Amino acid sequence: MASVTVRSSSHDYEVLIGKGLRRNLGEVISSGYTSILVITDSTVQDYYLQDVQESLAEAAPVFSAVVPAGESSKSMGRYEDLLDRCVELKLDRNSLIIALGGGMIGDLAGFVASTYLRGIDYIQMPTTILAHDSSVGGKVAINHPKGKNLIGSFYHPVKVIYDMETIETLPESEIRSGYGEVIKHAFLSDAEWAHRLLKGKLSELSVDQLENDLMRGIQVKASIVEKDEREAGIRKYLNLGHTLAHAIEAELGYGEITHGEAVAVGLLLMMKLSNDLKGAELPLQDYKEWLIRNHYPISVLNRIHPEQMVEKMKLDKKTLRQKINFVLLHELSDPYVVEIEENQLVEHMSLLMNEVSGE
Ligand SMILES: NC(=O)c1ccc[n+]([C@@H]2O[C@H](COP(=O)([O-])OP(=O)(O)OC[C@H]3O[C@@H](n4cnc5c(N)ncnc54)[C@H](O)[C@@H]3O)[C@@H](O)[C@H]2O)c1
Ligand SMILES: [Zn+2]
Repeated sequence: MASVTVRSSSHDYEVLIGKGLRRNLGEVISSGYTSILVITDSTVQDYYLQDVQESLAEAAPVFSAVVPAGESSKSMGRYEDLLDRCVELKLDRNSLIIALGGGMIGDLAGFVASTYLRGIDYIQMPTTILAHDSSVGGKVAINHPKGKNLIGSFYHPVKVIYDMETIETLPESEIRSGYGEVIKHAFLSDAEWAHRLLKGKLSELSVDQLENDLMRGIQVKASIVEKDEREAGIRKYLNLGHTLAHAIEAELGYGEITHGEAVAVGLLLMMKLSNDLKGAELPLQDYKEWLIRNHYPISVLNRIHPEQMVEKMKLDKKTLRQKINFVLLHELSDPYVVEIEENQLVEHMSLLMNEVSGE
């Protein structure tokens, strides 16, 4: 088992990564909770809920709440249902919520924990690769019909418990999605790691490689959020690839492609802008080949309109005063934020679309 400690303004917490942790929760969770509510989704329930409940049986009375799998459960309706359940079960200030699932469950259950009784303890038990990102950093939220993550708070878990065995049941598309954020963390932090990833094929990943990549991704995320918990400065770097990704997700409708796949496509535009406008020499060709080899949906670039994308980018909540800010790289591991003119953006998006058409 490996561990990383994350420092936050409210408390420090540990991220534990290892195989089979879900079967030994009694040993890693502090005692003294009056009751535990495990919140999960309908897919993860079938695989792992029973193991988690059994391993907690001696710690405290354990209850569960299950929401349908999928992003649409990160809603005000499900949030209200979960609060009803907390009240009905008489959870108190010494109760614990466990978020067992991917980023959707982490965000939803974390937001419930952050608001019920003005905040009770919660633990993240991520079960997707993408959730290596979402389970660290304390951002929790639900969606509003008008936009993603519009209602939320900063609220850190008391622990993150990552059982690597749970990753084994992930479908290929979710592995791809998770690696969109992993490669982002590599681009932000370490050229050697990035080049190693670019040589690889996701279908041939070993469990040890995966564990190593997740640990490193968590370290990158943790070190950035520790320095800038509330996104006043360098936390913005974590938006690498996300300006276009959010616009694509909004344009195509959520669920058409996964978040991490959209980020992976967004990183391609980031490279193009960094190289063509700012003279960087990022490995654009290697990255394009990696995307194709791993079946990322770069063909979405042929279905979008640069002008419409720019309009969507202006609506993004990270856009300040109508100016479109991008995170770019001087070189691998050296990010910066810069404002890009709309016409340049349209031009380079069109060029990129021409380059990838037919691939
Ligand atoms: N808070 C943050 O900092 C942050 C960062 C990035 C993303 N997010 C949020 O995370 C969410 C996306 O997370 P996600 O990609 O993990 O999505 P998700 O939680 O919806 O999981 C994706 C799919 O995989 C299934 N699944 C989960 N674990 C599984 C397992 N072990 N085996 C088989 N199937 C499994 C789920 O049921 C779901 O159908 C979005 O809501 C996004 O806004 C939050
Ligand atoms: Zn993301």
